[in-house]
Amino acid sequence: MIGTLARLATPRTNKKQRTTYRDRYVIAGCLSVLALPLERIFTIFGSDKQLPNEHSYGAAYAAAFRKLRFRRITLLEIGLLSGASLLAWRCYFPFATTIGMDIEPKFGMAGAKTRIYQGDQSSAGDLEAVARKEGPFDVIIDDGSHINAHQLFSFERLFPYLKDGGVYVIEDVQTSYWPSEHGGPSWGGRHVHDPAFAGTCVGEFVELAKYLNYSEFLSHDELDLRRLALARNITRISFEHNLIFVWKGRNEGASNAHRYARPALQVAEAAEPGP
Ligand SMILES: C[S@@+](CC[C@H](N)C(=O)[O-])C[C@H]1O[C@@H](n2cnc3c(N)ncnc32)[C@H](O)[C@@H]1O
Repeated sequence: MIGTLARLATPRTNKKQRTTYRDRYVIAGCLSVLALPLERIFTIFGSDKQLPNEHSYGAAYAAAFRKLRFRRITLLEIGLLSGASLLAWRCYFPFATTIGMDIEPKFGMAGAKTRIYQGDQSSAGDLEAVARKEGPFDVIIDDGSHINAHQLFSFERLFPYLKDGGVYVIEDVQTSYWPSEHGGPSWGGRHVHDPAFAGTCVGEFVELAKYLNYSEFLSHDELDLRRLALARNITRISFEHNLIFVWKGRNEGASNAHRYARPALQVAEAAEPGP
């Protein structure tokens, strides 16, 4: 039964296109009542998010999204390919509104509570057009070009449109370790011992993670005000295999650094860059 529905709903196995995306969302919605594990859902719909020799993101995503599963959330995903993940999200988040954005035209993937935009994640105008129209979001997933500069740029532009309590996910950050040599795509990665690694996507979030404890800093010299402003609005950064999760919220934990009689950190002027 699940197998038959899955074959009809999965873009890869449904080569004769007997069903439209609207039909597939209905099938995904029907399967949602079974509350299947996310790993299984990714497999059913043919997403490479859970595929041997590709990725095994199901468990990490499930742990991050569990509390949101049955809420009326708004989810934005950059990068759609065959639409497999859009179907998976419909099945996992039955009450969600899903917004998809891809550099290619994918308008046929629209459906009830699923809206599609064509846009380039390296374009401020394209990102902001979608975010202004559809934001703020509870979940933002970057599964687009995987180019380091694009991952960082999209985060900078879209994080202000994430709600407090929301989570921002960057997928396939292995490209932080893969340079543009050997004729491959220009990911912008570096060797981990290269000082320039700090400029990669993983490197930047490692640097940002240092600032989550900003209220413990004893010296305020040479602080990076951009990272400081971001850190005030981040409660958690989690590094998983090839995934980064960033949780938004006020980061104002109490500090006992007063024991060191350090001066108060002036962060008021370093407000989060707003939408
Ligand atoms: C890995 S696939 C997405 C897979 C899909 N999220 C899933 O899990 O089934 C990457 C997608 O990103 C899109 N893409 C590539 N560069 C992009 C860019 N600069 N802006 C937006 N989308 C881009 C590609 O067209 C492709 O559809």
